[in-house]
Amino acid sequence: MAERSAVVEVRAQRASRPRVRILGIGMGPQHVTREVAEALRDADYVLAAEKAEDDQLLAVRRRIAADAGVPVVAVPDPRRDRADVDAMGDYRRAVGDWHDARVAAYEAVLAERGGTAAMLVWGDASLYDSSIRIVSAIASRGVVDLEWDVLPGISAPQLLAARHRLVLNDVGRPVHVTTGRRLQEEIAAGLDNVVVMLNRHLDLAGCEDWDIWWGANLGGVGEELVAGRVGDVLPAIEAARERAKAAAGWLMDLYLVRRPS
Ligand SMILES: C[S@@+](CC[C@H](N)C(=O)[O-])C[C@H]1O[C@@H](n2cnc3c(N)ncnc32)[C@H](O)[C@@H]1O
Repeated sequence: MAERSAVVEVRAQRASRPRVRILGIGMGPQHVTREVAEALRDADYVLAAEKAEDDQLLAVRRRIAADAGVPVVAVPDPRRDRADVDAMGDYRRAVGDWHDARVAAYEAVLAERGGTAAMLVWGDASLYDSSIRIVSAIASRGVVDLEWDVLPGISAPQLLAARHRLVLNDVGRPVHVTTGRRLQEEIAAGLDNVVVMLNRHLDLAGCEDWDIWWGANLGGVGEELVAGRVGDVLPAIEAARERAKAAAGWLMDLYLVRRPS
């Protein structure tokens, strides 16, 4: 009996200090590592942003959470002001406002529920993902006394490299990771070996003689791969983008472009 009440007490103590575990899930359930699976099983709930009713990434998260027997608390994602971004080009400010709204929404859930929340991050939390910034902001506001940690996952550039059997850097040379939005200015600044993510469309003007290793929907429905000289394979990439989108209903692609030595 004494043992039982000790267990209850330990649980109560745990619940009194909210904890967030940011878990990288790679490009889908097949990439969930053993340590992430164990952390997920020990969580009280999964905290997930809900972007739209047909949020595909939320569906993947729900599947992974269901496999682990952990409930999902979906938090409607605050709207990001894209009109503002387009009109004023003030991307960072619009993203900042959106982060603040997300911080407030997550903080409210953590304050109300306590316990251990898992945040399932697509790929790895270290690349183009706001989870670490959001959780860090919640912790520093001090409204909830938060404990938090991060476990890694397989990121899209890693899977791209594996699929193409590719080393991202040439021997002793750097590799740069950027977004489609910034590619042209970064090439103009002299970068010559670049991983490009978050592509609305492909703008490879001026790189016709460069080599490209491209991939879409890696690890999921509609996976496509193309490699070659940019000027030769661009039409094949455009066609593959259409196929990937038609097969999955969504498109995520990235590529490495390299100036030939
Ligand atoms: C918001 S970022 C998230 C990156 C993620 N945290 C990671 O570690 O790879 C989304 C971008 O990653 C790339 N990406 C993510 N998943 C992908 C996939 N399965 N296939 C191809 N590219 C992917 C695309 O460039 C996409 O626009």
